[in-house]
Parts: sequence; C-alpha cells; structure tokens
Amino acid sequence: MATPRIYVTRPLPEPAARLLREAPVEVRSWDRDDTPVARDVLLREVVDADGVICLITEKMDAEAIERMAHCRVLAQVAVGYDNIDVPAATRKGIFVTNTPGVLTETTADMGWAILMATARRVAEGDKFTRSGRWKTWEIMGFTGQDVHGATLGIVGMGRIGLAIARRAVGFAMPVLYHNRHRLSEEQERAVGGARHVPLDELLQQSDFVVISCALTPETRHLISERELGLMKRTAVLVNIARGPIVDQRALYRALVDNKIWAAGLDVYETEPVPMTEPLLKLDNVVLPPHLGSASVATRIKMATTAAENCLAGVRGEVPPNVVNPEAAERR
Ligand code: DGY
Repeated sequence: MATPRIYVTRPLPEPAARLLREAPVEVRSWDRDDTPVARDVLLREVVDADGVICLITEKMDAEAIERMAHCRVLAQVAVGYDNIDVPAATRKGIFVTNTPGVLTETTADMGWAILMATARRVAEGDKFTRSGRWKTWEIMGFTGQDVHGATLGIVGMGRIGLAIARRAVGFAMPVLYHNRHRLSEEQERAVGGARHVPLDELLQQSDFVVISCALTPETRHLISERELGLMKRTAVLVNIARGPIVDQRALYRALVDNKIWAAGLDVYETEPVPMTEPLLKLDNVVLPPHLGSASVATRIKMATTAAENCLAGVRGEVPPNVVNPEAAERR
C-alpha cells in the first residue's frame, strides 16, 4: 500500500508536528504562519491527499471536497467547523473531525476576560493612560457596570456555556440560559440553579448576554435588531462563538443609539475585520481578534488532537472526535 499523504494547511506547533513526522505518512504543509493557504494551492494539494488538517480560515466547501480523489479524513483544528461542508464530505465518505473538550475551559476564561474588560472599560482605560490625557482621578471617570451579582444570560449551553456558567457562581450571578435542550436538574444546580428560559426572556432580563452556541442556519443573525431592542440599555453583549450569529450592522446601530451599553466581540461577520468596519470607531466595544482558545497549552492540545484524528483516519479507523460517523456508510 502506498504511503498515505497528509496535507496540513498551516504549520503545526510541536509536538503535533513531531507526531506527523514520526508517523508512517508523507506530510506536505503550507509553510506560512501569518497567511492562510492560497485557494489555488489548497485546491491543488487536496487532490491527492488521504487526510487534510485544516483551520477555520479554510473554506472546505463542496468545490474543494469534490476534488479530493481519495481523502478519508478532514481534521479541523477547532471545535467549530462551519467552514466545512459536512454533507458534501459525508457524501464522499470523508470523516470530519474537530477538537472538542480541549479548549472548553480556555474559551470560557476568555469569555470572562472579554465580559469583564467590556463591563469595566479596561481597553478604553488602557488607551487613555497611554495617550497621556489622564489628568486626575474623577468620581465618575470611566465608570462601568458591576459584574458581581448581575444576571448572566448564556445563549448556547454546551460545554463552553456550562464552563462560563460555572465561573458565574463565584461572582454570585444568577444564570439564565437558552438552549435547544434543557439541562438536567442536577446540572442546573451545579451552576448555581441556572434557569432555562426562552430567548426573549433571557434578553429582557440579563445584564450580560454571552453567545456560545454553534453557527447553524437557525442561529445565523439570531441576535438582530429586534433582539437587541429587547435588551436592557445597561446590558453588555459578548460573542465568543461565531460572528454571523450577531447581525453586526444591527449591533452597530444599537450601540450608537444607546439601545445597549457595550459589546465585547471575539468573532466577526468577516474575519479579519476590514478597516472600514464602523464598530472599530466606537469606544464602547472590546474587539480581540478571535482569541477564545488562544493559550499556548490549549493551541498545542488542539493541534495534537487534530493530528491524532487525522492519523487515525488515514489508518482506516473511525477517528476520535468524528462529527459525521455516517460517512462510514458511504465508503
Ligand atoms: C473554535 O475552536 O471553534 C474556535 O473558534 C477557534 O478556537
């Protein structure tokens, strides 16, 4: 049997790279860290690959998948995989894998970092100090919103939503959540008695609304003008899931018209954010560049998990973390 070929769309950190080097596979890789693989290169490289390791920056659409002559596995280095046309992969018998579990706590930490930075105007204050404009301590200068004791609304109570809710217990925050399925009573108790409520009620009652659901056709623009209009004027919106869940134009208007107090976004409708994006001009927003899982340890775990998933797939096994096990029936 010929040596399996794996194509990797970005250099992987050690020890994930070593795992691939030491495996009985031939590895080809895009060699730039700071630039996604060019589309024409991607379309050429996937033709002969038995496995592909890709990032959220690659559009693994039907066009790319159709070119794959004998690919067995598409291993995404992320938990979200809305950049991959999973039905197209399934039709070709290609397993799609992701990296759940390893980034849950790190992403929840970042959700909180953004929530607190937005509530307490950390980025704005930092810019002010650096600008040399700080003249005196002012009673109402840079005053924000209290986090402790405030009501936290979580949209999407999967692994990451739950990890965010667990942290809320330490801040004595009542938790509301909106999710397709209600948690068990035991799970609700473990996060301080979280209450399952309809989305409108969550938006009306929460001081902080954190989006942590997957992007699907049902959640695209889930938060738009009407929903933003239901929120409190003092509320903060945090999105750590996927940009298109929030209608960014409607959000801009809501912020300018003081319909809500502030927003912290880690994700955007287009990434990277174009310099023409009006949100960039506002002070009441905190805008990290999609850093939810970006700790050294977690990014290494994600890369290693993706490498393991891919190696299992090219060996002909059902990989761990497969999201479309039904692909096996199409082989
Ligand atoms: C994910 O894993 O889906 C993140 O958005 C990238 O860390």
